[in-house]
Amino acid sequence: MARDLTELELLTELEPVVADNLDRHLGVAKNWNPHDYVPWSDGRNFAALGGTDWELGQSRLSEVARVAMITNLLTEDNLPSYHRTIADNFTMDGAWGTWVGRWTAEENRHAIAMRDYLLVTRAVDPVKLERDRMTHLELGVAAPDGYGGALDQVVYVTIQELATRVSHRQTARVCEDPVADRMLKRIAADENLHMIFYRNITSAAFDMAPDQVMESIHKITTNFVMPGEGKPDFRRNGVLMVKHGIYDLRQHLDEVLRPIFKIWRVFERDDLTARGERAREELGAYLDQLEKSVIRFEESRARALERERARAARRGEAPAAVGA
Ligand SMILES: [Fe+2]
Ligand SMILES: [Fe+2]
Repeated sequence: MARDLTELELLTELEPVVADNLDRHLGVAKNWNPHDYVPWSDGRNFAALGGTDWELGQSRLSEVARVAMITNLLTEDNLPSYHRTIADNFTMDGAWGTWVGRWTAEENRHAIAMRDYLLVTRAVDPVKLERDRMTHLELGVAAPDGYGGALDQVVYVTIQELATRVSHRQTARVCEDPVADRMLKRIAADENLHMIFYRNITSAAFDMAPDQVMESIHKITTNFVMPGEGKPDFRRNGVLMVKHGIYDLRQHLDEVLRPIFKIWRVFERDDLTARGERAREELGAYLDQLEKSVIRFEESRARALERERARAARRGEAPAAVGA
């Protein structure tokens, strides 16, 4: 391809691929009901209706499980921002628009199920949860500077959907509750199908405009942040989640970036010109650097967890369960 495709050309040429993948998605997606995943008989009224308000002792979740649940729920809650961004970058016409509507409706189900579960089981402070939801949604999410267009969007959401899948599955692990486990695995299965949809669109775009897609992958990967920077307690909660392996650099590299890049044949393609090659080389160098950071991070996390275990042993406590 001698020249870059315009936005209109990309959207038009990819439309049949979107239509095929929409059909594929509708054929394999499960139409599940959020109410089937919530233990309603555990529920009772709060003080405004004559019951008891929440207090920490009512929660059966560990601190890390509470934080992971809240973080993942707030991420799901910010759907209006994501809907706006993808509708802006795609189009609401034809198969693109049908997908945007379907995807939005499926994502909304995730927040419904998680919120109902957390409130019925009194797993988290409902007042703080609502306050944080207001703050988070009023702020919204904006794409980082320099992001824009359908290509950047499909590359970003491919990575983000898989990252979200990992995060939900790891949250299921630390909840140690079979009901939460079942619900979060159900949600994670949806995220996987979303990832496959976006990954397939990107694969098709790669064959149409290899240099352009390679540059987009380089840009998105080297600037990647999960949606939700700016969430209440984002940094503090992020540290705790990383420490307990809910979503960390190792997972980002080995379970998200590398498997996706393998399917896209990022490092095997032979259809790039010099500018695509340059983007690929820089991407390769970035991944090498990331691998070094991962090793340093894992060593320091292991030392920190060892210190925690030793402190707990000195105090005669059982060591905290860590999933790292
Ligand atoms: Fe979701
Ligand atoms: Fe998703």
